[in-house]
Amino acid sequence: MASAEPNLQRNLHLLSAEQVELAKVLVEMGQAHLFEHWAEPAVEDDEKKAFFDQVIRLNSSYPGGLASYIKTARELLADSKAGKNPFDGFTPSVPTGETLNFGDDSFMSFEETGVKEVRKAAFVLVAGGLGERLGYNGIKVALPRETTTGACFLQHYIETILALQDASCKLAEGECQTKIPLVIMTSDDTHSHTVELLKSNSYFGMEPNQVKLLKQEKVACLDDNDARLAVDPRNKYRIQTKPHGHGDVHSLLYSSGLLTEWRDTGLRWVLFFQDTNGLLFNGIPASLGVSATRQYHVNSLAVPRKAKEAIGGITRLTHADGRSMVINVEYNQLDPLLRATGFPDGDVNCETGYSPFPGNINQLILELGPYIEELTKTGGAIQEFVNPKYKDASKTSFKSSTRLECMMQDYPKTLPPSARVGFTVMEPWLAYAPVKNNPEDAAKVPKGNPYHSATSGEMLVYRANSLILRKAGVQVADPVQQVFNGQEIEVWPRVTWKPKWAVTFKEVKNKVSGSSSISQRSTLVIKGRNIFVKDLCLDGALVIDVADDKEVKVEGSVQNKGWILENVDYNDTSVPEELRIRGFRINKIEQLVKSEP
Ligand code: UTP
Repeated sequence: MASAEPNLQRNLHLLSAEQVELAKVLVEMGQAHLFEHWAEPAVEDDEKKAFFDQVIRLNSSYPGGLASYIKTARELLADSKAGKNPFDGFTPSVPTGETLNFGDDSFMSFEETGVKEVRKAAFVLVAGGLGERLGYNGIKVALPRETTTGACFLQHYIETILALQDASCKLAEGECQTKIPLVIMTSDDTHSHTVELLKSNSYFGMEPNQVKLLKQEKVACLDDNDARLAVDPRNKYRIQTKPHGHGDVHSLLYSSGLLTEWRDTGLRWVLFFQDTNGLLFNGIPASLGVSATRQYHVNSLAVPRKAKEAIGGITRLTHADGRSMVINVEYNQLDPLLRATGFPDGDVNCETGYSPFPGNINQLILELGPYIEELTKTGGAIQEFVNPKYKDASKTSFKSSTRLECMMQDYPKTLPPSARVGFTVMEPWLAYAPVKNNPEDAAKVPKGNPYHSATSGEMLVYRANSLILRKAGVQVADPVQQVFNGQEIEVWPRVTWKPKWAVTFKEVKNKVSGSSSISQRSTLVIKGRNIFVKDLCLDGALVIDVADDKEVKVEGSVQNKGWILENVDYNDTSVPEELRIRGFRINKIEQLVKSEP
């Protein structure tokens, strides 16, 4: 080893053969600075060993190891410095996909197909993100999806998967023992809290072996354009690390062996979803039906997108050399790409009032067979990018260390042109209500654009459920406008139901009949399975909580003082954070509870 690393030389005897090899790699890859501050032998030896434990982890969790990481980083940093456009030579056009209209015959028929298929599906929740924009202290999946029941996102997801499992089994011929697998990708930031949330709630009714956690590792931070690895400012014997992005899910699934296990038990689909979209399952059965009917290898769930809205657009990119792909183009790249390729107005709405490029909501449905085939070639590696914040126009130094990142929706980038890549567009009220922004940032969102806050996340659940009931024939009153945490928002009647009551529109229709009405100030909470609403006139709060084997008819007039929404000050730290970030809480003044154990 070169004499430039005397500190390392002096300490070599501490290292195993494997560690010595890795030390060589580091030195050869221009990382000798990592040993500059090492102490004499016999001083801080445990820390030196811990350093190499970390290096081994970083090396083994990245396809091709650290050498490959550093090499790719140098290439991407050089491209970034040169201002190279990753889409150079590609022309965008609008791809073909399916557009659904909630509740019509075609929607219901896709839903039916989807429910049949779902027992051949595995679900994958990516939940390793820090949630810096939201700034919540806990993990995001532990946040209540809405506060009438207080059920958290993870509970809602699991209960919906279980309800889909039951619904699908009912349609199966013969006996059905299906247990739909759920994988949760965590990171060091979320892992232990996710385990605790599951264990302390008995996995929300799932069998513990139905749920598998895969933890993603962080990647090394980079200090400069030569990809010198950053020393952790808190410990000179550690490399600073940051999250690599949700694209890790593909390599983790591949290396876990789960994909082939699933294939061998007859599964056909893998559905990916994110941590805080309380409406996502409203669109899952129909979209899975689209995947099955259109034989999509990749189906991206999408919503109509306003031009310049901060979500990516699903785009077909065609290269002069014949390459072609259907891929998410980030909103800040779509406008310049359009302008550079013969669309002088860039990202603008068409005659529908929306951009012609559907907005990606990052829920993917992949067909398992072709997915395994592709990952066998790539090992699950996803094309990465780097996004350094430069100190000045010379682009020679960074404001803070950067790292390589990858996104799960970039999976189709390596697919052959023969791959069937499509999308399914749904109305945004039905399937998209993410919770990503803290109240201050949400309040600054330009008028008319979605807040993506805890406030909107909950209010959109009530809106969607109200609109679904309307479509099923219930007279649901119009909303009123209210302001919470500086965000003006529609407040609909607070209607919620457990997934086991209905996971498809057909089930809702079967359970609602006659002429029912719900006033704006009302709350309706349905907690049982066999609850039939008929000629109900609700003006107040009604909670129906009956055992699954009981059948109950809900009818007649219910009137009481009800549950009232009270404003909560975001800065009032005496209020739990889960409520403060919404800007309201529910004061349960009076209600009728129908319960049968
Ligand atoms: P977001 O875009 O919401 O990012 O991730 P984030 O990291 O959670 O939040 P910010 O950007 O810091 O505010 C979309 C989904 O991908 C997961 C998140 O948990 C979320 O479900 N994710 C993100 C991962 O699983 N791993 C990552 O490294 C990043």
